[in-house]
Amino acid sequence: MDKILAEHRRQVGGFEVVEIDEKQIDALRGQLDVDVPMDLRWTWNYASEVEELRALYERGKKGQWNAETDVDWSIPFPRDEWFLPKEGLQLLPSVLAIAGADDATCRAAAFDEFAWTFSQLLHGEQAALQLCGQLTNACPTMDAKFYAASQVVDEARHIEVIAKFLQRKVGTIYPIGGTLKVLLDKLLEADTWKMKTLGMQCLFEGMAVGIFDMIQKGSTNPLLSDVIRRVKQDEARHAAFGVLTMRRTVRDATPDEMAEMEDFSYSVLETLNANQQLDMLRDLAPKYGLDPDSVVLMLLGQEDWARFNSDVFMHTVVPNLARLGLITERTEAKYRAHGILYGDRFGHGVDADVQASLRGQ
Ligand SMILES: [Fe+2]
Ligand SMILES: [Fe+2]
Repeated sequence: MDKILAEHRRQVGGFEVVEIDEKQIDALRGQLDVDVPMDLRWTWNYASEVEELRALYERGKKGQWNAETDVDWSIPFPRDEWFLPKEGLQLLPSVLAIAGADDATCRAAAFDEFAWTFSQLLHGEQAALQLCGQLTNACPTMDAKFYAASQVVDEARHIEVIAKFLQRKVGTIYPIGGTLKVLLDKLLEADTWKMKTLGMQCLFEGMAVGIFDMIQKGSTNPLLSDVIRRVKQDEARHAAFGVLTMRRTVRDATPDEMAEMEDFSYSVLETLNANQQLDMLRDLAPKYGLDPDSVVLMLLGQEDWARFNSDVFMHTVVPNLARLGLITERTEAKYRAHGILYGDRFGHGVDADVQASLRGQ
């Protein structure tokens, strides 16, 4: 399988990064129509065939919430207060703190970076909404259709709550980064419902659970904490749907199909990692007197780079792939070499929300 965005690769300190230049990003963002192969499948079996999916659907029904009325929008989100740890979680304030910048500068950078990251999550939520719409049509069992349909509502609510947070409390929605747009289009364009489930439900929902959990653990703002807690509980169900469905898919797959799924997963995660936040750094670093490539170079030079770089991947997505048998000796070394897999490939145990969803509780 060829590398994604092979023509946009270059070396920074011996590491191959991916970055799309400014002009091409505008064209990419302007590409609103995506040619999606659309399968639609009827089923005449209205009884439950996949018990664990039906249980997850029931859990989803109980877990519904209203983004307008259940969230207390009167809670302030002040620009001049720390709401995430100063160092270790976000890139810009960590680098600025090491460089000796004053607290106000670090705080301003943290606010900007959060706005940027949250905007990317918003665009990702839109892709999830579109993809679940496709799954509702294409999945073969009524249980999967029920589940996918309920996830469509979840994703609409996530778009609503994150967009409102950005509009009401932050004041900015940043446009989608180039690497993310290309990857999301790839997932939406995937040929079969199985590959769509792998791409969106396993890879991206797995990443989402990791990112939301890290923000949730670090947040000291009650409004942000509440929004993230609610969204993350939903995302845990979505990741569980990915795992439950992929378990069955993997059980029936031929060796060739397994290899295809393993390669697809690797190439998507490798590309995501190869951006090394350059899309964010290009938008924000110059404002704080930092050069994007120099920041990446500095990070890559850290002795424990692989450990902190792999954090978000090792949270959910890599352990889930490993358990499904979609990371084997064939790709494990490559994951390790790129700082995506670190330590035990099964991670530190399953996220509590995902675990509860897998049990259908
Ligand atoms: Fe979502
Ligand atoms: Fe989701």
